[in-house]
Amino acid sequence: MGESRHEHGRAVLRRRDDGATELRVNGVFVMDDHETGSEQLLAESALAGAEGADLRVVVGGLGLGFTLRALLADPRVAHVTVAEIEPAVVAWMRDGTVPGADLLGDERVEVRVGDVRAVVAEQAVRSVDLILLDVDNGPDFLVDDDNAAVYVAAFLRTCAERLRARGELCVWSQADSPDLRDRLATVLDDVTAVRVPVVLQGRDEAYWLLKGRRPGTT
Ligand SMILES: C[S@@+](CC[C@H](N)C(=O)[O-])C[C@H]1O[C@@H](n2cnc3c(N)ncnc32)[C@H](O)[C@@H]1O
Repeated sequence: MGESRHEHGRAVLRRRDDGATELRVNGVFVMDDHETGSEQLLAESALAGAEGADLRVVVGGLGLGFTLRALLADPRVAHVTVAEIEPAVVAWMRDGTVPGADLLGDERVEVRVGDVRAVVAEQAVRSVDLILLDVDNGPDFLVDDDNAAVYVAAFLRTCAERLRARGELCVWSQADSPDLRDRLATVLDDVTAVRVPVVLQGRDEAYWLLKGRRPGTT
């Protein structure tokens, strides 16, 4: 990142004094490139349970690309549709303002600038192996109030219907959410919450991955 601050619409990218690159949306911290273990684990933990090859994945959003990079490192991944609502986030990666132009140039990657809800809804029923949602800080810590709709039963059902049998939906969250787990359990099997330890500003904390699998064998 050459200059120390870029701003477009609701998105701000800035270089902090500690050297980290930070993404803010709506004036709220979204992520940085120093503590990215949970973003990578979002991909790795879903891939660990995936069955077969030629995996088709939908991920929202792009952010700084750590989840996408972890997905593409697995040769079983045949196609990734990335939904990112902020055009600037995609543009900054394409033009090299942030690393990741190689990800967007990967022939397996299709980038859609738009709401992940619309992008998931457009997928054919029973066509996706993994849906990874990391568009906000979780149901109880929204950066964007519109994203409340990402965590409600109607959209979780839409996700479940797009999954192939045994396909997985995995949701990143700043905190565990029993309510979200309950909603996941109405449409998916094997619902679990994975605690991901992180160190934030010198303190031991945790992020969470909440996930479940589409039932059935076909
Ligand atoms: C926490 S970041 C994603 C981090 C990403 N997992 C990574 O590894 O860098 C959240 C991203 O989701 C985008 N976003 C927010 N709401 C969205 C929505 N409804 N649909 C698609 N993208 C959204 C934000 O602009 C931001 O780029």
